[in-house]
Amino acid sequence: MRDNIDEILFSAEDILNRVTDMGLTISSDYRGLDPLLVGILKGSFIFIADLIRKINIPINLDFMAISSYGNNIDSSGVVRILKDLDENISERHVLIVEDIVDTGLTLGYLFQILQARRPASLKICTLLDRPTRRIVELPIAYSGFQIPDTFVVGYGLDYRQRYRNLPYIAKLRLKNEKNN
Ligand code: PRP
Repeated sequence: MRDNIDEILFSAEDILNRVTDMGLTISSDYRGLDPLLVGILKGSFIFIADLIRKINIPINLDFMAISSYGNNIDSSGVVRILKDLDENISERHVLIVEDIVDTGLTLGYLFQILQARRPASLKICTLLDRPTRRIVELPIAYSGFQIPDTFVVGYGLDYRQRYRNLPYIAKLRLKNEKNN
């Protein structure tokens, strides 16, 4: 195991099993609706890549890049759009795909922005949900795993832009960061 990785919370196999279930549920819920999945960069890129390969109905894919944390581990509440959608979402069934919902500040802001563009429906899918830190309540339609109030990395999630490439989700030991 890599330095600073304390404990593996979800193995690659755990994640694959859960993502497979989520893909099948989404396929059944959105059959005939030609949904647009919107991945929020960067953290969701691995999750959405795996998720869409478990969805067996036609979909469209788009991405937004937003910034909320900067280089810190706590949400600042300041959310900036770095890259907007390419697609017009008016009258589309839109599913936002996130890696983690924590305080909810990021998605709270994004949800309002996208809702104002009048999609036919707007729902949230997140791999991880950390409800203990929630500030803004959100309707989460699909959630992979609930996690306790602990800092996690891997499978797309970073600490200071590192660890995104770990194939599992792990608890990070925040001491001795110099060597990570
Ligand atoms: C993470 C995550 C969400 C947000 C959740 O992104 O992908 O967008 O934080 O936190 P919140 O619920 O407290 O707002 P981050 O800013 O770390 O950027 P990244 O996706 O590029 O890693």
